[in-house]
Amino acid sequence: MPISVLTEWWADMGVSVDTVLVDGLLKSAPAREAPEQDAGPAAPALIRKGVRTVADWANEARALASASDTLDALASAIRAFDGSPLKAACEQAVVFDGIPGAPLMLIGEGPGEEEDRRGLPFVGKAGQLLDKMLSAIGQSRAENTFITNVNYWRPQGNRNPEADELAVCRPFVDRMIELVKPRLIIAAGGVPAVSLLASTEGIMKLRGNEYAFATPGGFKAPLIPILHPAYLLSRPQDKSRAWRDLMLIEKRLAELAAG
Ligand code: URA
Repeated sequence: MPISVLTEWWADMGVSVDTVLVDGLLKSAPAREAPEQDAGPAAPALIRKGVRTVADWANEARALASASDTLDALASAIRAFDGSPLKAACEQAVVFDGIPGAPLMLIGEGPGEEEDRRGLPFVGKAGQLLDKMLSAIGQSRAENTFITNVNYWRPQGNRNPEADELAVCRPFVDRMIELVKPRLIIAAGGVPAVSLLASTEGIMKLRGNEYAFATPGGFKAPLIPILHPAYLLSRPQDKSRAWRDLMLIEKRLAELAAG
């Protein structure tokens, strides 16, 4: 990768190249990932609709997901699904964008306000940064990348999705991975990384490493967690970490393409 691409990327981020390349910064104490905005009201421990529990809704999601043989069928099933308590307050479900069958699949946390309005993932400020990050390693949603989230409905106040809200989406997420069949998965941020890997570690420990991911249906792909672009917007000093993670992703994509 030419150095000019790197410096342009940093300049786009509004970060001084001298600052981000100072080695001492990389050794600073691990920071915690900041929430995108103030947390909204907590979700109830049990998602109930009539007498149905989270487990009931997750079972329904599993049945709908396994009956979906195409991404379009899966997207329709997600849009018609009533098991997320977030759905009632949203404009619409935000399901996916990009290229079906792409070698690279990026999975984020869930839609924010702009995504809810437009019905597409990562189209707000964080999404614009994400597009620049992907472009720096030759990837884009227009050509070779598939983009989705672990939760399809916007939480009010842009809080993180609760465990129950993720649980009812998870069968759809696994099925989407099986239908896209990516060579490599990126988990963007702590929420998808911890949820997909069922990890007890935080994103600062998980990022920059490769993990073996498998769906219940048996599809396997390597997964690399990265810092969420919304976090990077508020913590430019951590962009050096993001850059190193992108370099790893670029290298692994080339290796996986070569077989
Ligand atoms: N943040 C996410 O994690 N996903 C989106 O779609 C938008 C912002």
